[in-house]
Amino acid sequence: MTATVLVCDGITSEGVEPLVKLEGVELIFGKLDEITQPENIQGIMVRSATKITEEVLNQLPALQIIARAGVGVDNIDLNAATKRGVLVVNAPEGNTISTAEHTWAMMMALVRNIPQANQSVKQGEWNRKKYTGQELYQKTLGIVGMGRIGSELAKRAKSFSMNVLVFDPYFPKEKQKELSVTSVDLDTLIQQSDVITVHTPLTKDTHKLLNLDNLKYAKKGAFILNCARGGIIDEEALLHYLDNEHLSGCALDVFEQEPPVSRSLVDHPKVIVTPHIAASTVQAQKNVAYMASDEIRSHFLHQPLKHA
Ligand code: MLT
Repeated sequence: MTATVLVCDGITSEGVEPLVKLEGVELIFGKLDEITQPENIQGIMVRSATKITEEVLNQLPALQIIARAGVGVDNIDLNAATKRGVLVVNAPEGNTISTAEHTWAMMMALVRNIPQANQSVKQGEWNRKKYTGQELYQKTLGIVGMGRIGSELAKRAKSFSMNVLVFDPYFPKEKQKELSVTSVDLDTLIQQSDVITVHTPLTKDTHKLLNLDNLKYAKKGAFILNCARGGIIDEEALLHYLDNEHLSGCALDVFEQEPPVSRSLVDHPKVIVTPHIAASTVQAQKNVAYMASDEIRSHFLHQPLKHA
């Protein structure tokens, strides 16, 4: 019997190579709501645009596996999938470097006012004083969440001669030494960092982890970045501390609602933004699609899964 796998969200055939020649698997590329026979779909691969809700699951009675070509599974109703016995797998390693590089690019752009200066020159201005920036050299970077991406950030920060403070209750002691970083509690990290960047998943424990209460302890003039998930930093709190000039600036690749409905942060002169593209490189997108399809392949071949 042939298993039908639906590949969504613009993932190309190049990325799903492990499935292309797999006997007994038929691949369909397209959108979930355009599929004529959803009842035949046994596997589905998504990025973040397709939302797998309980309602969607009910339309896919034969579904066995959902593969997320990426890290975050917050677009999938995990409880509903578990209740139905549908496997959920992701590709946590494929876009680490791209996300770390994008965060680094945002950090440099933020402290040197590059987007604002770029726009001003293109508009015919030549204002050198207005765009005076800050060095990262010997500044303190606070990294919240020391998984794969946080750890890559730490390496880049050390090569820029920054001090690195980290907050992650699960970060092993031996790793601290290896990366020459110092583990602290969240309040200390907020108080002592010149630049703070978050790299945790969004869960009920990390929702508004940085907020009105604790950001008041940030250094005056600190910079904050979120290239992980919208909602880890309270957007209202960011706005408050940018408006009262406590924070110097903020870089956001992600928003609590995407695309963002409120323009207050997006249009703020001290905020630089990108449209959730930290993992959007040719290499990362190919890597994550490849890894996700490898998991689907293992499932249909009854082999062990790596990231279930
Ligand atoms: C991820 O979770 O892998 C990244 O945020 C990129 C994406 O959403 O595709």
